[in-house]
Amino acid sequence: MSVHCLAIRHSERLVRSAFPKKACKHLKRTAGSQLLQKNVELIRVAEIIGSFGEHHTVDTLNLTIRVYKLFSDSSSVDVNTGDDNADSDAAVARTYRMPSAHLEGLWESLYFDTDIKSMLLQFMSSAILFGEKGIDHNFISWNRLIFLHGPPGTGKTSLCRSLAQKIAIRMNHRYEYTKLVEINSHSLFSRYFSESGKLVGKTFEDFLEMLEDDDTFLVVLIDEVESLTTARTAAASGNDPSDSLRAVNALLTGLDKLKYKDNVIVLTTSNLPHTVDPAFLDRIDFKYYIGPPGAKSVYTILRSMFDEMIRCGIINHSVSSWCSLVFPSC
Ligand SMILES: Nc1ncnc2c1ncn2[C@@H]1O[C@H](COP(=O)(O)OP(=O)(O)OP(=O)(O)O)[C@@H](O)[C@H]1O
Ligand SMILES: [Mg+2]
Repeated sequence: MSVHCLAIRHSERLVRSAFPKKACKHLKRTAGSQLLQKNVELIRVAEIIGSFGEHHTVDTLNLTIRVYKLFSDSSSVDVNTGDDNADSDAAVARTYRMPSAHLEGLWESLYFDTDIKSMLLQFMSSAILFGEKGIDHNFISWNRLIFLHGPPGTGKTSLCRSLAQKIAIRMNHRYEYTKLVEINSHSLFSRYFSESGKLVGKTFEDFLEMLEDDDTFLVVLIDEVESLTTARTAAASGNDPSDSLRAVNALLTGLDKLKYKDNVIVLTTSNLPHTVDPAFLDRIDFKYYIGPPGAKSVYTILRSMFDEMIRCGIINHSVSSWCSLVFPSC
């Protein structure tokens, strides 16, 4: 069995040096070294909260350790036919069991100028707390809906996928199954133009059915959500047939039903936020602009690429010294 373990807490500098060894020692003490060697493939630090002090031992740190297994299975569902193994181009939805082997390390490889990653984790912590405490939706109304927008290629989809991975790991003590369902709203519309209203409704019915299982947490990712939500504006100007209108209405109704479920979160992305339906925008709980990376992030992304090539032996350290001449802050 392949088990990955994360230990959480302290500063970034410590992550790369002493901390993993300390976490490892701690695990050896608690779990027994043989058990560790047999079952744990990798130990790494995922998050550090608090300021960097002068001296710390494992005993003085507040460690949170999560042990998890990676899955590689995914399935495509053709909502139209209900075919569970539809070829992936035809499918409008793709389901991945989380945490996924394909997404391991993605979160760590993403760099942003702002602390969007912590904000998303904070949002998720509140979502979980609200669910656990059973808040009354009449007093605190929210839709479990996140919307990331910005120019192409800035990491929106990657951030959503890796957030699903994070959720699966952090909540594995509560939910046995976490699934990421990716919907390509663009293909849903283009392929089934006359049927899209019905199909969106059917898709949300399927979600509600999956959510009946208390041991399942569902992360729904709707990429290019503007394809589904521009219809009402277009219909109002007389350019779009009523089916598009029905699709948007089905999406809004579907979201209104999901909001009463504690075991779901909906992540959406768009390049064209100004074309998105106002009623959809009104339902968003967390909206964030992801812009092109600034100089510091570009540097960090490039550096991580060089580090990876060094790790794989494609370039050697002498090239890296050359690199630090080119990039003085290397
Ligand atoms: N901030 C970032 N840090 C590291 N890699 C990034 C970052 N942003 C994008 N990338 C890389 O660029 C590629 C494209 O990212 P992604 O598809 O997530 O962008 P996107 O914002 O969803 O684009 P689009 O709007 O076109 O769908 C991915 O391989 C991703 O790993
Ligand atoms: Mg994308």
